[in-house]
Formats: sequence, C-alpha cells, structure tokens
Amino acid sequence: MNPTQASPSSAPTWPAGLTLGGQPFVPANDRIAVLGAGVMGPGIASVFAEHGFAVDLCDISEAAVERGMATLRESMQIKVELGLSSAASTARAIGRVTPRVGIAAALKSARLVIEAVPENREIKSSIYREVEASCTPDTVVWSNTSTMNVFVLAPPAVQSRLVVAHWFAPPHILPLVEVVGGPETAMVAVSECMAVLRALGKTPVKLEKFIPGFVVNRLQRALGHEAFHLIESGAISIENLDIAVRTSLAPRMQILGLMQRYDFTGLNLSLRNLEDPDIVDPPVNLAPEPLTRRVANGELGVTTGKGFYGYEGRSSLDMQRARDVKLWQVVIGLSDLLSDPKPL
Ligand SMILES: NC(=O)c1ccc[n+]([C@@H]2O[C@H](COP(=O)([O-])OP(=O)(O)OC[C@H]3O[C@@H](n4cnc5c(N)ncnc54)[C@H](O)[C@@H]3O)[C@@H](O)[C@H]2O)c1
Repeated sequence: MNPTQASPSSAPTWPAGLTLGGQPFVPANDRIAVLGAGVMGPGIASVFAEHGFAVDLCDISEAAVERGMATLRESMQIKVELGLSSAASTARAIGRVTPRVGIAAALKSARLVIEAVPENREIKSSIYREVEASCTPDTVVWSNTSTMNVFVLAPPAVQSRLVVAHWFAPPHILPLVEVVGGPETAMVAVSECMAVLRALGKTPVKLEKFIPGFVVNRLQRALGHEAFHLIESGAISIENLDIAVRTSLAPRMQILGLMQRYDFTGLNLSLRNLEDPDIVDPPVNLAPEPLTRRVANGELGVTTGKGFYGYEGRSSLDMQRARDVKLWQVVIGLSDLLSDPKPL
C-alpha cells in the first residue's frame, strides 16, 4: 500500500527534500490555493489538507464555497466511516481548509495555485491574468483542465511555471493524475509536479505533449463510440453491456493495462483480429440516439434521478456516497497495483 494515500488513522508523512519552483515545499510553511469548489476542487483540496497543507478553497459565491466545503466534509467523513482515517486527524485536515469567496487573498499567499474552474476560455484566461497580477513570480500553477489548451491562454510570464495536472473524479480517491507541460513550461516544473503528486499518494503519469482530452478521456471516448453503436444496433442491452465490461475488461485491464494484453493474446493474433474483414468499425456518431433522446427528456443521470438507469428515491449525494464507498474498497484492496503499477 502506498503509505501516503490511504494510511489508517495517523496523518500521512511528507517526504524530505521536495521542492517547488526550486525552493523547499513543506506542509508547515506553504499554502495552496484551489480555485473552483465544484466537482473537482474540494477533493483536490482535501488531499493537500490531509497531508498537512493549509489550503484556500475559493469560488465566486458564498453558496458555491459552502457547497464545496460540504462536499469536502462528506468525502472525508466517508474515510472515517471506512476506518481509513481517524475522526481527530480528519477534523484537523478540515480545519486546514479555509473557504474563500473570490481568489485575490488566496493568490497573494499561495506557493501553489490549482486552477479547477470551468472549461471556459474566458474564465480560465481571466484566472491566469489574475495569477500574473497577484501571485509572486515564483508561484507555481497547476491546471486541472480536461481538454482546453491552457498554455495558449496563460500570459507569457506564467507559462514557464504552468503545468497541467489532470486529476480524475473523484480526485481524492482515484490515484491517476495525467501531467503535461506546455512548450514554455520549465522541465523542472513538470518533474517537481510529479514528485509532489507521488508524495500526495497519487500515481502521476507524464504525457510527452499536450493533446486535447489527454489519454484516458480519449480512450473512454473511443470505447463510448463502440458502446453506443452496439446498443443502437440492438446487439446488447445497456445492462448486459455493463455486466460484460465489469466482468472482463475491467479486471483484466487492472492487471495488464491495455498494451500488455496484446502480448498475452499474441501480436500476430492481435494483428489478425484488427485486420478481420468481418468486423466493420461503425462510422463515428457524435450524437447517438440513446444519449440524445435522454438529454432531450431531461434524463441526465444521477443528478436528475434518471439516466441509463433509474435512481428514484436516491439523491445525487446518496449515489456519490455509494460510488465512493465501493471505489475506496477497490482502491484499498488493490493499493499495491495502483500505487506502483508495473507490467507482469
Ligand atoms: N468533473 C470532472 O469529472 C473533471 C475531471 C477532471 C478534470 N476536470 C476539469 O476540472 C475543471 C473543473 O471542473 P469541475 O467539474 O470541478 O467544474 P465545476 O463546474 O463543477 O466547478 C467549477 C467551479 O469553479 C467556480 N468558478 C467559476 N469561475 C470562478 C472564478 N473566477 N474563481 C473561482 N471559482 C470560479 C464555479 O462557480 C464552480 O463552482 C475543468 O477544467 C474540468 O474540465 C473535471
């Protein structure tokens, strides 16, 4: 198990010698500004707070900040219930998070700014302008963008210290963070980001260059095209497709990833499978009917009580809690595989 992520009751330890912007980076001295308290910000804030950092969790309104703090408290409470942290250390961690309306005060004292605001060009651009104006020149900036090329949005003075660190929801549970620098990013900013993420118990993976959607979301998108084709063509029901994935791809990928599976299948057979003329790839359909019909009906998933499945009588928070409890069980059960994934 990676001791810095899911250690039971004691606060995780912080390794000596870590730097940010070339200077020592330690929980006792350094503040983190998390900008955006929506889906991602609170979870990211909680990971830093659990490791002893003071964190400012910022949003644009009192209501948004309060929602973010409620999300953060709820996610940390689940860890207490599962015996993954003690009530006392959790209370201390929550106490390290300061909710803030607006970002100006947080930027002034931040060593590290984490941008987790919506995927909107104007909003992200204005954040980077404020970072340039209010932060010290050595403040490091990590963006959680999913697709947007933030390197072209940031002013030149910020670009050398801007890194994309793309976490996965729920960010306090899933280990992967995709890391990529832009053309002007200092190499050391990327390597420091990787080291800090490892110290936070995460499993960072470095990309060699920026590509919209990065890697995992692109893979998921490719799989989604085929899944909707299979459903639309009547080959399988939604429920059975999920059973098939859960009982085959998911556990096997856990052990072999995607590429080592080819070695076990045999590359010659894999090539034959790809060339098989009987399997015709469907044309890419960006508006599959099973999706468009539900969106038109306002069936958006757990938030509305209905999506591909029904959630009547269960709130969105109930569903998130149910997901998080199961995910923690998987992450803890497979912690060796997840914290240091290696080929067989
Ligand atoms: N939701 C996911 O699963 C997910 C996963 C990985 C990455 N991301 C990326 O992370 C970023 C945030 O995503 P999210 O899902 O948390 O979005 P979200 O919409 O849930 O939350 C963003 C928050 O930022 C706040 N905000 C807007 N302008 C602001 C400003 N000027 N200052 C401070 N706060 C401001 C909004 O009020 C909102 O609460 C996006 O770039 C997204 O692509 C999202």
